Amino acid sequence: MVINFNDEYILIFMSMKATAVANTNIALVKYWGKRNEELILPYNSSISVTLNNLFTITTVEFSKNLPHNEFVINNRLLNENEVEYSRIDNFSRIFKKLAGMDLNLKVVSKTNFPIASGLASSASAFAALAAAFNTALSLNLTYEELSKYARFGSGSASRSIYGGFVKWFKGEFDDGSDCFAKQIKDENYWPDFRILVCITSSKEKFVKSREAMHRTVKTSEFYDAWLQTVEKDLDEMEIAINNRDIRSLGLIAENNALKMHATMITSKPPIIYWNSATLKLIKSVLRLREEFKVNAYITIDAGHQVKIITTSDEIDRVKNYLSDIKEVEQFIVSSPGQGVKIVQEHLF
Ligand code: PMV
Repeated sequence: MVINFNDEYILIFMSMKATAVANTNIALVKYWGKRNEELILPYNSSISVTLNNLFTITTVEFSKNLPHNEFVINNRLLNENEVEYSRIDNFSRIFKKLAGMDLNLKVVSKTNFPIASGLASSASAFAALAAAFNTALSLNLTYEELSKYARFGSGSASRSIYGGFVKWFKGEFDDGSDCFAKQIKDENYWPDFRILVCITSSKEKFVKSREAMHRTVKTSEFYDAWLQTVEKDLDEMEIAINNRDIRSLGLIAENNALKMHATMITSKPPIIYWNSATLKLIKSVLRLREEFKVNAYITIDAGHQVKIITTSDEIDRVKNYLSDIKEVEQFIVSSPGQGVKIVQEHLF
């Protein structure tokens, strides 16, 4: 059925409203640097795990009765001049164009963990938005298409469309048509897999990942070295996932995250996200592994939070050991989670 959105009658009676829930994801092999900043095309592919317990729920509604856009994020009404407002507005235009209409939009969104602090909140936020737009506008996009469009909100959002272990392909084409994510293994594949999220501060980070990525690519002499090792990390990571080999997976992920931070630290001016608790956590995890032979490995995104990769039989030991670090505000235990889903309960 082709809907003519200019038809007043249809617009009044059709409900263009939907609610979606998306989990965040943590990259095991990071996405860092864009070959095309406008089309959000990365220099390298990446692999992540989607996490349960850390999600964004978003309701969207397009309506003729709305005098202007209204975006409410975590109970705060965004002002038109805010960067976050423009990001949502620009993102919505992609879907409005696909639907061939231009109505005003209301968005209400809630995230159950600290946003903009290096916990990939934009991944769950834009994955949820993409899925909600898709349903509200009856676009019937495939998962691959959803992933492709989600990346325009935030690169990492392309991976949160799927549950479990996910690979985002950098693609080869200039137009980005082959740049989307696919699931490697679903959320039930590795039930013992755990991530311990350590919130070292709920404060927002001082440089957004978009700016940090740009500066690194332009100014770090280590950026080429990053690109030279990432393909090997991707291949070995897939083998580790296929073998459910926590030790190999953890070692590759940890080394990959530290290499990414080395490019940030060596950019000009330097970007150093870590706080004292971040560093204490890194050192404690190394000690846990070396002295006590515990399978625990760190990974850190563009921010100060630390995520520890471990298994269900080690998680309590890891948590107890780290609870001595008093600066850690909160520990969240997470397992592989589901991909994006549409729910019937709306936020407004
Ligand atoms: O999706 P963005 O633009 O917020 O970039 C995310 C970058 C990292 O979190 C540092 C790495 C990744 O692959 O998620």
